[in-house]
Amino acid sequence: MHIKSTTLLYSSFCILTTLLLAYILPFPKTERTQTPPYALTDLAFPRGFLWGASTSAHQVEGSTNNDWTLWEEQHATRLAAEADAKFSHTPRWNQFQAQAAEPANYRSGKAADHLNRYPEDIQLMKQLGLTAYRFSVEWSRIEPRDGEFDAAALAHYQTLAASLKTAGIEPFVTLWHRTQPTWVAKQGEWTNDKTIADFVRYAGKVAEALGPTVRYYMTFNEPELHIGGGYVQGVIPPEQKSLALGNEAFSRMTQAHRDAHAAIHAANPAAQVGSTHAMQLGQASPATTVNTLAQKYLDGFANWKFVDNTLAVTDFIGIQYYGPTQYQVTLGGTGLINVQNSPDPHAPIKSDMGWEVYPHGIYELIMKTAERYSKPIYITENGIADAQDTLRAQYIADHLYWVQQARERGADVRGYFVWSLLDNFEWDKGFWPRFGLVAVDYANNQQRTIRPSAWTYRQIIANTQK
Ligand code: BGC
Repeated sequence: MHIKSTTLLYSSFCILTTLLLAYILPFPKTERTQTPPYALTDLAFPRGFLWGASTSAHQVEGSTNNDWTLWEEQHATRLAAEADAKFSHTPRWNQFQAQAAEPANYRSGKAADHLNRYPEDIQLMKQLGLTAYRFSVEWSRIEPRDGEFDAAALAHYQTLAASLKTAGIEPFVTLWHRTQPTWVAKQGEWTNDKTIADFVRYAGKVAEALGPTVRYYMTFNEPELHIGGGYVQGVIPPEQKSLALGNEAFSRMTQAHRDAHAAIHAANPAAQVGSTHAMQLGQASPATTVNTLAQKYLDGFANWKFVDNTLAVTDFIGIQYYGPTQYQVTLGGTGLINVQNSPDPHAPIKSDMGWEVYPHGIYELIMKTAERYSKPIYITENGIADAQDTLRAQYIADHLYWVQQARERGADVRGYFVWSLLDNFEWDKGFWPRFGLVAVDYANNQQRTIRPSAWTYRQIIANTQK
């Protein structure tokens, strides 16, 4: 008896000490790799490499009516009131503070009016020498009510895709970019099996309507962020705070990808169907064992889980990268523990949103992806919120420098898309972050102006096409 209780005491002591040490002991911090000097003319990509820009329907089209539109109505006032506390640490906040304090900033409304202005936007793409354009089709427009498909909406996207083709621009179509029709939200979206069948029916309809004009499809854009933000943190639609529901929703989305892959192929045997991922380059901060474990688990979830589960029916992988993040495990929060995921506040170069700029990160993520899967890769998003356009040209060139390094080491990267073609509605941040190669003047009838950095991008594209 006496021996037993001593053993118990000793084991408890060991476990507690290990946990404590794991919580505080530092792991070696990974060093940052700088981009060496190079000239724009050193950037060499083969002919046929796709040069693009991305958008999503809800963020640019305007006049959408989906679950996010409802959410914006409910939260605009709160978001306006909270903005200062959330963003005053960002480097150029005084430029955005007033706009961010206005509830109107948080309602997507007319957005960039891309729905009506797409012919002009295609002209802008041509001027910039783009050879590909990634956009999303809006489910709520195409199927406003369960089973009722809107012929005019389908015709709109047919015309958009056909006009792009005529302009020599390859359309890349995303089927789901965060938003859903309100009837899908009401039925519990990805917590309901019915949504799988509904999504597959919708995907098949779109592929039938677009026919041979569209070859590249992405089923889901960043499903991992929908689960993280919508189901675990519960800060965006559908505002759940449940790991169990998040898991369920995630596996339904992977099933929907598998079935949609088949439906799209049935409509268009030449189609290439992939998905896009918010690839994380996490750092534990401080680099304790616990933070490192959290970082490894969450990076693994964000970067690989969806593709691992759908690999047999994934024709290409879309990598989306903006900059690294830091993970810190704290006690309390919404669950027993809380994992904070935020950019390094001490990073030397930061976007208007405070996101760290670290171009070598794109190389690390491409190489890991290429080692893990032998599938074609597209960089489906990479960009920076930079209203004054002082960082964007360098940002794009430096990231392309590292894409090139990855290609030279055998990674099969076939295209690169800047986020974004246009300034747009940045979800719960609203309109103040400016990601566009092309500026949009919301106060002046959504007038477009090409930013100087877009001409640098144009020059890089032209150099590689000589
Ligand atoms: C999303 C975009 C978003 C961008 C910048 C990506 O996570 O796909 O919709 O605007 O990042 O935050």
